[in-house]
Amino acid sequence: MHSTLFAHWRKAIPALLVACCLFSLPATSLAHGDHDKTPDPKTGILLVAFGSSLPEAQASFQNIDAKVRAAHPDIPVQWAFTSHIIREKLARQEGKQLLSPAQALSLMADQGFTHVAVQSLHTIPGEEFHSLLQTVHAFESFPEGIAHLSIGTPLLGVTQDLDRTADALLANAPADRSSDQALVFMGHGTHHPGNVYYIAMQELLRSRDPLAFMGTVEGSPSLDQVRSELKRRGVKKVWLMPFMSVAGDHAQNDMSGPEADSWVSVLTADGMDCTPVLKGTAEFDNIVAIWLDHLEQALHELN
Ligand code: CO
Repeated sequence: MHSTLFAHWRKAIPALLVACCLFSLPATSLAHGDHDKTPDPKTGILLVAFGSSLPEAQASFQNIDAKVRAAHPDIPVQWAFTSHIIREKLARQEGKQLLSPAQALSLMADQGFTHVAVQSLHTIPGEEFHSLLQTVHAFESFPEGIAHLSIGTPLLGVTQDLDRTADALLANAPADRSSDQALVFMGHGTHHPGNVYYIAMQELLRSRDPLAFMGTVEGSPSLDQVRSELKRRGVKKVWLMPFMSVAGDHAQNDMSGPEADSWVSVLTADGMDCTPVLKGTAEFDNIVAIWLDHLEQALHELN
């Protein structure tokens, strides 16, 4: 009966607040048996990524999932995806039902979780991360929500994260690259103030390696800015790598696709020899280790 109620409730997710109020009366007695008894503590991990509809991107999610489960073998792991476009696309094309953060938290509350560490697998604290924060904070105040919630920051948060990430990105450069060849990372970029993280990464990369560059698809630094730096230095050969957790649509198309405006096409037209490396950052263990440390911190904050 409980699960039937819940299934019904999930269909009513757009009316989340209203549904929650209606649900709160029967849920109390069903979930905890005795009304006066405090529920037994139950800790869980919720991993939250943007999402990708491409099968090539799954390697990143699988790697993170395996590393998180290995680090915390006793704690159940749930996934949620912040992009509603991706969730709808996968539901329509493949009949896959991916959960939004609100749906995943509802499910975990229903399953009796009392302590949940929510780990953002985003790259920067931008729009996706800030809307996740709002969802989590809203959930804390629901009468049948999860009493103890904490949030692990995205890959880039404090300065130490940026230094570690810059070191890791350079360590992950292709072994075949020689010192006169450029390494260009493609970040997402955003109109959100969090875009400054990409500009900071550009500085940190360049202070370590004069031919390492950060560009973005939708923000700053732009491809044109990177291009003029490459030309000024007379670069002949460029290695391109995504600075995104997955080698998804942007990496496959905007970075290395056959269209005239892909980064490979534009730089090739400028006379540079380009080799794209189609691996998301979450396929590299030295990057995943940074997210794992943020999760560790979030789990610590639950107690
Ligand atoms: Co995008």
